[in-house]
Amino acid sequence: MGLRREGLGAYRSQCQQDTERLGELMADELAEGDVLILTGGLGVGKTHLTKGVARGLGDEHPVTSPTFALMAVHDGGRIPLFHFDLYRLEHAYELEDTGIYDVLGYEGVCMLEWGEQFQDELTDEYLSVVISRVADAPDERTIVLEPHGERAQELAAQIDRAVKAELEQEA
Ligand SMILES: Nc1ncnc2c1ncn2[C@@H]1O[C@H](COP(=O)(O)OP(=O)(O)OP(=O)(O)O)[C@@H](O)[C@H]1O
Ligand SMILES: [Mg+2]
Repeated sequence: MGLRREGLGAYRSQCQQDTERLGELMADELAEGDVLILTGGLGVGKTHLTKGVARGLGDEHPVTSPTFALMAVHDGGRIPLFHFDLYRLEHAYELEDTGIYDVLGYEGVCMLEWGEQFQDELTDEYLSVVISRVADAPDERTIVLEPHGERAQELAAQIDRAVKAELEQEA
């Protein structure tokens, strides 16, 4: 068990807790206006990563999937976290009703599940977090940071330094 770093911005999670821990470490580096688009199929761990970020920001309320509400706000921490789940959204014009344009890119931190389908209508500046399953290992995931834009590049580098330092410390 344990979170591993497999290279620059690439990690291996062996259980739900590892993914949450990565989220907690990411939280320390996040700033107002940051946008994270979480990519990966059903049940891959997008909501659990978000849970870790909320906890890392200092919000102790439970994070569940906002599938029906489409957006949940966790504002008990250092900066507000806006958690979107756009799975049920069929058309880009429906984005307006979610309230996403009121916050995206300037207020709090936005984490989007199923956001890549509307990426053209959202923002050019975001950190994509790609979570993938690993063959023959039901609880393992690879988690890769793919920055888009200058701020996202800086953020990815900061996160990577923080994860590297944390894991080296315990080795
Ligand atoms: N390494 C892991 N990281 C994260 N979750 C894991 C891991 N191994 C097993 N799991 C399990 O996978 C499931 C992930 O659920 P989660 O709701 O976070 O996924 P999701 O990507 O948000 O799914 P959805 O697309 O339905 O919203 C949980 O049941 C969790 O316990
Ligand atoms: Mg989810």
